[in-house]
Amino acid sequence: MDLQALLSCTRCELSENRQRVVVGSGPNRPTVLVVGEAPGKTEDEGGEPFIGRSGQLLFKLIEEEVGITRLDCFVTNIAKCRPPNNRPPTPKECEACRPWLLEQLDSLSPRVVLSVGNTATRQLYGVKEGISEIHGHWFELNGVPGMATYHPAAGLRSPNTVIPMIREDLRKLKSQLDSQ
Ligand code: URA
Repeated sequence: MDLQALLSCTRCELSENRQRVVVGSGPNRPTVLVVGEAPGKTEDEGGEPFIGRSGQLLFKLIEEEVGITRLDCFVTNIAKCRPPNNRPPTPKECEACRPWLLEQLDSLSPRVVLSVGNTATRQLYGVKEGISEIHGHWFELNGVPGMATYHPAAGLRSPNTVIPMIREDLRKLKSQLDSQ
């Protein structure tokens, strides 16, 4: 992947207000490629995805249910730049950014992809359904099995209902890894 080209990308308007392009972080051959929505304020300043509270929750659940840590995952977002006022990235912005994600998928060769939340899931797998209908379902992305679960921010907002569902989805992800 041409990292310099990504760091100077101007394919959409999000490039105008960003502090940094949040490329992603993790090993070259990750077990899981985790795909979130877009960087928030903390990530735009820190340059790494999921470094706030929702990331802490997500990786705690992954550790407990899958038995791997953040260090086994490459973590990125469907949109690599922060949208103003933390709005979700638009379909057009996601579309402009998607080729970067596909290049990352190709060069990282993860064993599975995990999308979190509606925006990433719809854009990544090209589906219309909401996350409540398709979480825990399997898709395929350029030959790699991909699953969707709730965004951990939803888990922080409604822990009693959402966290058990994320846990159940992650157990399916573990079964997939165990069967490979
Ligand atoms: N939420 C996301 O979807 N991605 C991040 O990087 C941080 C919070």
